[in-house]
Amino acid sequence: MTIDTSGTEGYAERADALIEQWRTISFADRHAPILRWIPQAPSRIVDIGAGIGTDAAGLAALGHTVLAVEPVDAFRDAARELHPSPRIEWLDDSLPDLAALVARRDSFDVVMLSAVWMHLDAAQRDRAMRRVAALLREGGVSIMSLRHGPVPAGRRMFDVTAEETIGLALAHGLRLVRDLRTSSVQPANRANGVTWTRLVFEKPAEAA
Ligand SMILES: C[S@@+](CC[C@H](N)C(=O)[O-])C[C@H]1O[C@@H](n2cnc3c(N)ncnc32)[C@H](O)[C@@H]1O
Repeated sequence: MTIDTSGTEGYAERADALIEQWRTISFADRHAPILRWIPQAPSRIVDIGAGIGTDAAGLAALGHTVLAVEPVDAFRDAARELHPSPRIEWLDDSLPDLAALVARRDSFDVVMLSAVWMHLDAAQRDRAMRRVAALLREGGVSIMSLRHGPVPAGRRMFDVTAEETIGLALAHGLRLVRDLRTSSVQPANRANGVTWTRLVFEKPAEAA
């Protein structure tokens, strides 16, 4: 991990505890409200800010091929051990620029951004949305979640609104297909009043 990857503050220091905590989260429970936007046919998916690979593993189990992008070494190492799937490839890279990912000149049916967008400041979110839009194939979807509520100690997190995120996505040529609010699936966060915005954007096909 690059020392100054912004957004990762407070993660490496607490990696062991977070790995234990995140292992209890179920992909199916967390993503039930948006599962219908994940293609049924085997697809190419990039999971950015992939943590310990909960989503990557869930998606691989559905038959998809997943590129899991995560800047914190401890999380990538844990993920490889927890989910040794041939359908998952791990990449050390970070938002907003995703330099290593962009250098691959790849494109995806789905861009997952679970619980990561609010780690970026306003200027970074603008740069990152440009990248996300460019990574999507026509007809592809970006599935995002934004956390609202008390910020864990030592973490860099901004209160990012759905409205701002939708505006940014539209400005970069994406179309909103789903906007919903949910409570946290983690009991402690739910008790602390943490809520989530779930957004799904589609990249429309170019008019012929
Ligand atoms: C709350 S965790 C979510 C992990 C996973 N997506 C999930 O939902 O289980 C946020 C993740 O984003 C990663 N992250 C933080 N800043 C990042 C950045 N600038 N670029 C990419 N990932 C980042 C953290 O290292 C961490 O793994």
